[in-house]
Amino acid sequence: MRRILVLNGPNLSRLGSREPDVYGSVSWDELVSELESMSSSTTSIDVRQTDSESEMISWLHEAIDESCDVVLNPAAFTHYSYAIRDAVAMVSQAELSVIEVHISNPHAREEFRHNSVIAGVSRGVIAGFGVESYRLALVALGVK
Ligand code: DQA
Repeated sequence: MRRILVLNGPNLSRLGSREPDVYGSVSWDELVSELESMSSSTTSIDVRQTDSESEMISWLHEAIDESCDVVLNPAAFTHYSYAIRDAVAMVSQAELSVIEVHISNPHAREEFRHNSVIAGVSRGVIAGFGVESYRLALVALGVK
C-alpha cells in the first residue's frame, strides 16, 4: 500500500474561521475528509496538522523511514525554518517527492511571505488555488 503524508504547519487547523477572505470558508475538518476520501485500495492519504516545528520534523523523518511522498503546507515555517528545509532536503535526497502547497498566493501578499526556504529543496510548488492546491498536488503525485 502506498502512503502519502499531507503535512500542515501552524494555524492551519483554524481553516474556515481564520482570515476567510484569504484562506476561504472550507473548514479544517472538511479539508481533511475531502483529501482522505482521495485514498484508494492502493494509496492511503494521511492528513495531519501541527503547530510544532519539532513534530513536523519527526513526521518528515517518518516519511523517509516509511518511504512516503509528502504534500507539505509548511504555513509560516515556509518563510524561516531552516530546520524544516533540512528535513525536506533529506526526504528529497531519499528520492521521495515533497510538493510544497499554499492555499493563498504568498507572492501576492506581504513581502516576508515572498521567500520560501523550502521551495528550493522541494520537487515543486503549487500556490494560490485555495484548498484546490492540495488536490492538484495529489494529482501531481499520480492520485486520481
Ligand atoms: C500559507 C501561507 C503562509 O504565508 C501562511 O503563513 C500560512 C498559510 C497558505 O497556505 O497560504 O499559514 O502557507
